[in-house]
Amino acid sequence: MSNYHIKHLEEYFQVYRKSVRDPELFWEEIAEEHFLWRKRWNKVLEWDFSKPEIKWFEGAQLNITENCIDRHLTSKGEHTAIIFEPNDPSEAAEHISYTDLHNRVCRFANVLKSKGIGKGDRVCIYLPMIPELAVSVLACARIGAIHSVVFAGFSSTALATRINDCDCKIVITSDGSFRGAKTIDLKGIVDDALDSCQGVETVLVAKRINSEINMKEGRDLWLQPLLDDASPKCEPEIMNAEDPLFILYTSGSTGKPKGMVHSTAGYMVYTAFTFKNVFQYHQGDIYWCTADIGWITGHSYIVYGPLSNGATTVMFEGVPTYPDWGRFWQIVEKHQVNQFYTAPTAIRALAKEPLTHVEKYNVSSLKVLGTVGEPINEEAWHWYNDHIGKMNSPIVDTWWQTETGGIMISPIPFATPTIPTFATMPLPGVQPCLMNDDSEEVKGNPAQGKLCIKFPWPSIARTIWGDHQRYKDTYFSTFENKYFTGDGALRDMTGYYRITGRVDDVIIVSGHNLGTAPIEDAINEHQAVSESAIVGFPHDVKGNALYGYVILKDSGTERDRDDLRKEINQLITERIGPIAKLDKIQFTTGLPKTRSGKIMRRILRKIASKDTSNLGDTSTLLNPEVVQDIMDNVL
Ligand code: PRX
Repeated sequence: MSNYHIKHLEEYFQVYRKSVRDPELFWEEIAEEHFLWRKRWNKVLEWDFSKPEIKWFEGAQLNITENCIDRHLTSKGEHTAIIFEPNDPSEAAEHISYTDLHNRVCRFANVLKSKGIGKGDRVCIYLPMIPELAVSVLACARIGAIHSVVFAGFSSTALATRINDCDCKIVITSDGSFRGAKTIDLKGIVDDALDSCQGVETVLVAKRINSEINMKEGRDLWLQPLLDDASPKCEPEIMNAEDPLFILYTSGSTGKPKGMVHSTAGYMVYTAFTFKNVFQYHQGDIYWCTADIGWITGHSYIVYGPLSNGATTVMFEGVPTYPDWGRFWQIVEKHQVNQFYTAPTAIRALAKEPLTHVEKYNVSSLKVLGTVGEPINEEAWHWYNDHIGKMNSPIVDTWWQTETGGIMISPIPFATPTIPTFATMPLPGVQPCLMNDDSEEVKGNPAQGKLCIKFPWPSIARTIWGDHQRYKDTYFSTFENKYFTGDGALRDMTGYYRITGRVDDVIIVSGHNLGTAPIEDAINEHQAVSESAIVGFPHDVKGNALYGYVILKDSGTERDRDDLRKEINQLITERIGPIAKLDKIQFTTGLPKTRSGKIMRRILRKIASKDTSNLGDTSTLLNPEVVQDIMDNVL
């Protein structure tokens, strides 16, 4: 029996049981058999959730790029590692072989070194989905620099916050990006951000849209000439197992974004193992994840997971709607994609369009379909199953988080029977549990509660950059000795998990995590606003959309309400990015508050969702009269 590649349900149960009975032995065997180490570990696992401290493969040395690239060179150097599919379908796709990738990563790594970047330095990457993005990520890993990729849809303010939080010395960007019919001035956004980032010495600029841009003397450099002059050989930096590999920011319910720190060895082992099993990848398959590398899904399942398995991974620059709603299926046919991984919001949007967009293309190459990022509703699940999978390709509803580094709960295709909306069972090594409000574990089935994990898995984030106390408070303080996910879940009679959604003030809009606090801060910056509260409400494509309740300083103002709404959304776009814009803005004279001054979001959520039959206990409110007023004026 192989621990590494699970093919049948029986095998899953056996492997799972072993992973719980003896986690160290289980992960040790996988680590030993499937990876290249420069030095073996002294101890497989050391952990203490009360500190919290988690160490996997302590004492081991490695470089993740040797595992993702070099070790494939002799057996499959000419195999395609990355297929780059451009935004414009008439532009040729690029097939980058493992040998090419090695060459490009080494050159890039040497350019970084020549700019004084070395082990432990933070590198901010703000790029569109072009090959330079994957290459720069790997180049950082090659030399032991810590990459911090910022999704190129974030605004200059959001970018500046992230650059400053981890003191990046260098930013890698491009002149601009293509997104459907639009072009975006990325370099302009970087310039604005850098006005408030004193520590950035160098900006490397990839040419993508050939626009006229401002290059600041002594700081900004075109990337290509530097790459051309660099050597294609770069010895990998030998890293310790627990050295940080990257930082990736995620929203919290309060405060600034959290820079989740992932370390090297455990992350590599876990993402490789889960990629192999969740997608049942076989050599020669073409795998495509539609996420952006700016999110954890792209880190783990476009770059590291696929490449450490020697797979072929597709990187798509564009959007599902350009030049029309058939683009995804055109790409599936063109590259004969076997595994396809996307978000429920994309499926819902595609399902609203005529089926002719699917029927035009032959998608019979597909073997496994995946979803991630938010709960998938039954209707979307069936559309995906019927029209894309032709009832022949298992759907893997994968539950995980930026913090978990890799997929945690998911069916194993062809092994686990699937049920719509259920992420089904934990992967080997994952020990979930449900907790009730009295902080007790809910045992037996069926059950419902707050989803926690009881035991460390190799790719758990190790800390929040610069704020270990916040890491402890956020994830390890709600329930003693458990990692708290922030999600609610139920477990059915057979032990299958269904994730029901966030139980905190994080709202997932189109699969993107948004914290309420930073959006409210942006709204409150408007000179006419005195206070605001935002909540999510159900939306048939985005899953959730944002509803804002806004109190004006002068409620009798003559200002046009629609102008104010536009200005508020403009502010949000500038401070965070267009993904955080509000769908509805209701002006109100008060917000329901507890006697201690806390906004009762539960009530606001119900009103925004038009679910006011039972508002629950409002007796603790300081100002119960505002509730009726808000209900009367709901949008
Ligand atoms: O609420 C869960 C939801 O997305 C959150 C994590 O978001 P993020 O860190 O941005 O990572 C997204 C990609 C891994 C979770 O706390 N979520 C993710 N996958 C699912 C999901 N909710 C339901 N079903 C899923 N499959």
